[in-house]
Amino acid sequence: MLVEIEKLEQEIQQDFHNIKTTEQLENLRVQIVGKKGKLTAYFSALRDLEPENKKQVAQKLNVLKNHFESLYEDKKQTLDAAKLSAQLEQEYIDVSLFNTLKPQSLGHPIAQVLDKIVDYFINMNFSIQSGPLIEDDFHNFEALNLPKFHPARDMQDTFYFKDSLLLRTHTSPVQIRTMETHSLPIRVIAPGNVFRRDYDLTHSPMFHQVEGLVVDEMGKISFANLKFILEDFLRYIFGDVRVRFRASFFPFTEPSAEVDISCVFCKGNGCRVCSHTGWLEVLGCGVVHSNVFKAVGYENVSGYAFGLGVERFAMLLHRVNDLRSFFETDLRVLEQF
Ligand code: DAH
Repeated sequence: MLVEIEKLEQEIQQDFHNIKTTEQLENLRVQIVGKKGKLTAYFSALRDLEPENKKQVAQKLNVLKNHFESLYEDKKQTLDAAKLSAQLEQEYIDVSLFNTLKPQSLGHPIAQVLDKIVDYFINMNFSIQSGPLIEDDFHNFEALNLPKFHPARDMQDTFYFKDSLLLRTHTSPVQIRTMETHSLPIRVIAPGNVFRRDYDLTHSPMFHQVEGLVVDEMGKISFANLKFILEDFLRYIFGDVRVRFRASFFPFTEPSAEVDISCVFCKGNGCRVCSHTGWLEVLGCGVVHSNVFKAVGYENVSGYAFGLGVERFAMLLHRVNDLRSFFETDLRVLEQF
């Protein structure tokens, strides 16, 4: 019997060597120490042995059993570890893969500049208004002190529909629509698309403007308020620039001014972009004309208004010299923003 047990020991050694999976390991366990296992059978056979023989065989069986158990534990640990690392490998997520995705966009350059402009005025407690892109003659011209046949209408090349409808040529009609529907005090900006029959380096048939309008009881709003906010705004947008107000003409404001900043390209020394004047014109503004208030039935009020072109701001901020490149959807251009 001792010889048989030794044979079994060698057999077990060999079996462990060949085991590759936890299923095989479990089978082996059942075969050896299960209810009908080989080693179990030898333990049962003990009771038929002579007492002096019995002790020796029992000892041998116990050693073998302990040996089996430690081999079993070792093998189980190795197999479990291998199984876990295989699983980890299979479920591996390569977080660096995100690097290979398309670049994230911060938005179109015009939208970025518009956001920055709007941010400023939101912080200054302005609210945002909008109006229709297809306007009527009254809101786009008439109510803004531009009666029919007024020569100033030629300043804006208009796309007309039938029945005196048109594509709005500026955001100023939102001034009228706001006053028609709101009571004092009014403190709004109106960003939006506008349309003109124009197409060259600095003009496109569709572009963006931001209109501003502040109205309150007579005497509460003056040109000084306008001057303060526009200077502060332009430094917020363009950084450390000088700002000057130059007398000008718009039908809907009196007095009117155009606002210049010191040239961002040459710091005011004079260059090709500023036509060697050192100044760049960036917006129009003024004190709201009494005829505009008349058109909306307002009395005893005062206010200021301003209007700017977003594309012009974007060109100056990003040093783009052909406005049309904003609209050509060429990724080589857009990716630079
Ligand atoms: N609407 C003018 C334009 O499109 C811009 C403008 C100038 C708006 C002066 C204003 C203003 O509100 O006061 O050229």
